[in-house]
Amino acid sequence: MNTRVLTGITTSGTPHLGNYAGAIRPSIRASTQAGVDAFYFLADYHALIKCDDPQRIARSRLEIAATWIAAGLDAERVTFYRQSDLPEIPELCWMLTCVTAKGLMNRAHAYKASVDQNLLKQVDPDDGVTMGLFSYPILMAADILMFNAHKVPVGRDQIQHLEMTRDIAQRFNHLYGGDYFVLPEVQIEEDVATLPGLDGRKMSKSYDNTIPLFEGGAGALRAAVMRIVTDSRAPGEPKDAEGSHLYTIYRAFASPAEAAQFRTQLEQGLGWGDAKQLLCERLEQELAPMRERYAELMARPERIEDILQAGAAKARKLSAPFMARLREAVGLRAAAKPAGKGASAKGKGAAGGKARFVSFRDEQGLFRFRLLGTEGQELLLSESFADPKAAGRAVQALRSGVLDELLSLEGQSAALSVDGRVVARLAAEHLPQLRGALAELAAQ
Ligand code: TYM
Repeated sequence: MNTRVLTGITTSGTPHLGNYAGAIRPSIRASTQAGVDAFYFLADYHALIKCDDPQRIARSRLEIAATWIAAGLDAERVTFYRQSDLPEIPELCWMLTCVTAKGLMNRAHAYKASVDQNLLKQVDPDDGVTMGLFSYPILMAADILMFNAHKVPVGRDQIQHLEMTRDIAQRFNHLYGGDYFVLPEVQIEEDVATLPGLDGRKMSKSYDNTIPLFEGGAGALRAAVMRIVTDSRAPGEPKDAEGSHLYTIYRAFASPAEAAQFRTQLEQGLGWGDAKQLLCERLEQELAPMRERYAELMARPERIEDILQAGAAKARKLSAPFMARLREAVGLRAAAKPAGKGASAKGKGAAGGKARFVSFRDEQGLFRFRLLGTEGQELLLSESFADPKAAGRAVQALRSGVLDELLSLEGQSAALSVDGRVVARLAAEHLPQLRGALAELAAQ
């Protein structure tokens, strides 16, 4: 299988150098590699969390779409779409919401930052916090897991969201007893992990310290660069290149040799005004040709709309059938073909005709699991576990394909033991069926 790479940008503002260097440029590079299937999208549902200005959302969607294409994205090669054109995304988001611990969301940086600010202001800790902001990482998990992305190129600010996505995916896989979701890995461009803005803090729409990528043309770019905050060392005085964010921005756009030369010039006393001039020239070299394409695209929004519609159709070829499989897995099935205990012999297993483990809580609230056969029939029902991790270890032991090491026979009945305790009992005559299903699972 090809490596799936996926990333998105929230459509709540004008794309800036940080978005470009942290996400767009590395993603476009990744999409040209052999063996890569790339999924890039406009995160417009995410935008609603931060912005309630419809004009701004609409404008930003256009600008960000035009930016991706102007920066070299080949919309034929990659799957390029708008999040809100895929109804499966909010549906998956809800399923994931139902398996995500509230405690996990309590730890999210963006939420914690809002709470800290409220505490400083001595107002209610949740003042101004919407449920959108609170559960934002779950929507992001839905974006990533919908396409089972292996790699997610993002800036450093998104690392925690990726960790949460992995947690949520694991929880779903465990609860519904299948490898539904791949655990994604974050991909960080180390040189630009966090591009600083005009004031040295992370370049961000929220801090109003951005350098716009294309909007406003070369004039706006230059005006922003001239506002980059520097120290007061005069021309001729040696500068601390490593400590200057102007140098950090330059380095993100230059080859190692160019960056080394710029650094030496600063250390030898290059004036900040001249340094800004050199930075403008370096940026223009990379961005000017793209800016022309950007202007052409912005003048033809209907062309952008066509590209996005085609992208949505391509994306839904994957998201619609996958969502159908997930609906089956959680039990949102047609009334005519119930699976699991008492299933009709014709019914297919939730995993599309594959044997699978299903975890659940019994009436006492204890943890148990079943192994279902290819027809959805019950092959094994576990004992109860107070600790879900012990249940998980028992499933792992069974999946590992060493049934004989777990098995003891007492007449017509068989017992399976893990970690010194019996985890399930069954009639010995059903062992061949169990063996077959476990062998099938081990081979998957
Ligand atoms: P957003 O829109 O804030 O930023 C888009 C991408 O740009 C990166 N970025 C930066 N990189 C380096 N330096 C900076 N100063 C800088 N500012 C922004 C971000 O790290 C990000 O990669 N939640 C996401 C959007 C999203 C998403 C997803 C991303 C929604 N679903 C699924 C990946 C996968 C966000 O708000 O990014």
